Amino acid sequence: MNFRPESLPDIPHPANPERPELQRTAEEMVTEKIDALDIGLDVRRHPELRARLAEIASHFEDSLVMAKIIERLYGTLKKRLDLTDADPKRLMRAAVLHDIGKSGPAGAETAAHYAIRRLFIPPRKKFDPFKDGRAQKVSDFVAHQGFMRPEKLLADLLAAGIAPDQPMLDVWRRHAQWTYDILKPTVNGDIDEKTLYIAASHHLLENENPAGLNLMDVPTEAHILEVLEMSELLAAVDKYQALRERGGLKHEDALTQLEKTVSAKTDLPESLRSKMRTVIAVLKDSGESLEGLFGKK
Ligand SMILES: [Fe+2]
Ligand SMILES: [Fe+2]
Repeated sequence: MNFRPESLPDIPHPANPERPELQRTAEEMVTEKIDALDIGLDVRRHPELRARLAEIASHFEDSLVMAKIIERLYGTLKKRLDLTDADPKRLMRAAVLHDIGKSGPAGAETAAHYAIRRLFIPPRKKFDPFKDGRAQKVSDFVAHQGFMRPEKLLADLLAAGIAPDQPMLDVWRRHAQWTYDILKPTVNGDIDEKTLYIAASHHLLENENPAGLNLMDVPTEAHILEVLEMSELLAAVDKYQALRERGGLKHEDALTQLEKTVSAKTDLPESLRSKMRTVIAVLKDSGESLEGLFGKK
């Protein structure tokens, strides 16, 4: 019998006897879902990436939605942003891979990886990373969420260099760097350098820049400029998807929120912010074609 849940199952701790079966199911689903996108990404050739995408479960599902948004908007975006790729496939590959760093740092699986992944599971209880003007710590998050065996969790994190008193937001933001580190050794063929740069640069608005893109002095070289444009595009779609799915906002409210975020980023060059606004404008005109992508997992 070939039972398939609709969404990827959460994969339990390595010591759990059900883990191998759930991991196998999740990996098969990753393969099927990526194949269905038809974007020239063969995850059978990248077993480590497939295992990690299976492990990030709901974040992988969010990435699929982003890829579908990009597929629907690419024709219009291409005209408005001077994108040179004839089709959206490369950008969709970057979307599928962008949050793979939420599976933890590059390298062999350690006890810390399971602990780190628990920090990235969407919070059961809403958690504000700032409280009374102070950044909340890793230990605050662990206590707030009521995780089982919190001491063990904190000890495993510490073994990976994540101290209990680190700001929680800093740890969450490290996933863009991990995405870069995980994808870099795989670069060739379906995951080319441009895909790597775009995928790893999706949190430029939060000052996460693992690919070291030069933002302040916007380059004139067309290929670098295009990477920046595509990263911006991915960042905007990422935020829009999160506001709709995680934030539960309607189309218009999500876009108003996104506009506010871009307006507040006065430290980014105006040329980049204006590209972001173009993406927002295209999203705005595309509301109807995007319905049906949200609210179901
Ligand atoms: Fe991300
Ligand atoms: Fe994301």
